[in-house]
Amino acid sequence: MFSTNTYIQRRQKLQTQLYSGILLFLGNDEMGMNYKDNIYPFRQDSTFLYYFGLDQPHLAAIIDLDEGKTIIFGDELSVEYIVWMGPQPTIAAQAKAVGIETTLPSQELNTYLQKANQQGRPIHYLPPYRTHQDVKLHQYLNISLAEVKQSASVELIQAIVKQRSIKSEAEITEMEKAVNVSGQMHIKAMQMAKEGMKEAELAGAVEGIAVGAGGQLAYPVIMTVNGQTLHNHYHGNTLQSGQMVLGDYGAETSLHYAGDITRTFPVDAKFTRKQRDIYELVLAAETTAIEQLRPGIQYRSIHLHAAKLMMEGLKSLGLMQGNMEDALEAGAFGLFFPHGLGHQIGLDVHDMENLGEQYVGYREGLERSKLFGLKSLRLAKELEEGFVITVEPGLYFIPELIDLWQAEGKFKEFINYDKVITYKDFSGIRIEDNVLVTATGHRILGDPIPKTIAEVEALRQTV
Ligand code: GLY
Ligand code: MN
Repeated sequence: MFSTNTYIQRRQKLQTQLYSGILLFLGNDEMGMNYKDNIYPFRQDSTFLYYFGLDQPHLAAIIDLDEGKTIIFGDELSVEYIVWMGPQPTIAAQAKAVGIETTLPSQELNTYLQKANQQGRPIHYLPPYRTHQDVKLHQYLNISLAEVKQSASVELIQAIVKQRSIKSEAEITEMEKAVNVSGQMHIKAMQMAKEGMKEAELAGAVEGIAVGAGGQLAYPVIMTVNGQTLHNHYHGNTLQSGQMVLGDYGAETSLHYAGDITRTFPVDAKFTRKQRDIYELVLAAETTAIEQLRPGIQYRSIHLHAAKLMMEGLKSLGLMQGNMEDALEAGAFGLFFPHGLGHQIGLDVHDMENLGEQYVGYREGLERSKLFGLKSLRLAKELEEGFVITVEPGLYFIPELIDLWQAEGKFKEFINYDKVITYKDFSGIRIEDNVLVTATGHRILGDPIPKTIAEVEALRQTV
């Protein structure tokens, strides 16, 4: 937990952005996986953690702007619970640690909100992302389930996005920890991978490092020889000579800040010529994009520049042809680079995605593209000092997409399908780092993680 004052100041700052009514924050609950007591690992809601710091289930909080009150709602543990799960500080003691003097039993929340509703006071809440939270809000607010998401408070969302986007020194320190553990995870995989090993062995080893460091995974591990599938969570393949392993995983610290790092390395000690050529294009796109980061620059323009750079490289390899400026405009890069260059990261790996990407990554006057590839860009708007973002270009050869586009003759003036089809067994390469936007530019978080071909191959030599 951060200092008591951190939470007090965060709430005070939020209260300067909204003027009346009640701000309602629902913490997360424990959830049964296959029966009630066999639970999914508990993960507190990130906004609840940000303003209230309390990392346990079945809590809620309100900030009553009209009456100047902040209240934590939760129930003390029964002796029976303590017998099974051990003792805990009282709710009142926990609330005090985050600067809150008033606590009430959970059932009082409904009463409080019903009364506020009768008085016609606005109740601001965030869009729920777990169905049982929809049900709670439906009951508390006397609105239909269909209305629950629609009636979330845009004012509250915008105020929170504005605040949470700018990371404090203490948060940046925590995020460096997350990246450093994530770096250890990647180094471990590069050192231990061997032909004949299952992807699952690597996935298990890196998860152990995240847990051993006192945290957990920030998101499910991608550890695959089929890197062309962007979010591939299957770990059943056996590593074979000639293949590459794409690893996209990161640690979450005990305070729940995320790291999100991707590296791609050969199963053999060295990359093949063909792999090196594509790797160098992705690496140049990543390092060039990072060099461009500074306050005021639009991330969409960095994404497009990275796409253009990679297309120029593909052209030099004979995979593309024609005018790459026109190819960029048309969206031909979607065949090879169908995802966005990056996203904000913080308490969530895709930070605040539950609040809506239109608020986190876009702004009025900057609408999301409908173009295949560009539509997956989560962060498009101007960067600000204090943002922490990922930079993660990639090049992929997705056989199903190549076949479809070739059959349709799509962008055939720009794509040399005769050559592209010879890459259908190539898989994919992605390289990703986490970067802080500073007043004058940027800083890659954490200790350097092997990234150049020479650095990666040096680790593979140890096999
Ligand atoms: N690390 C996975 C992603 O950014 O979507
Ligand atoms: Mn990412």
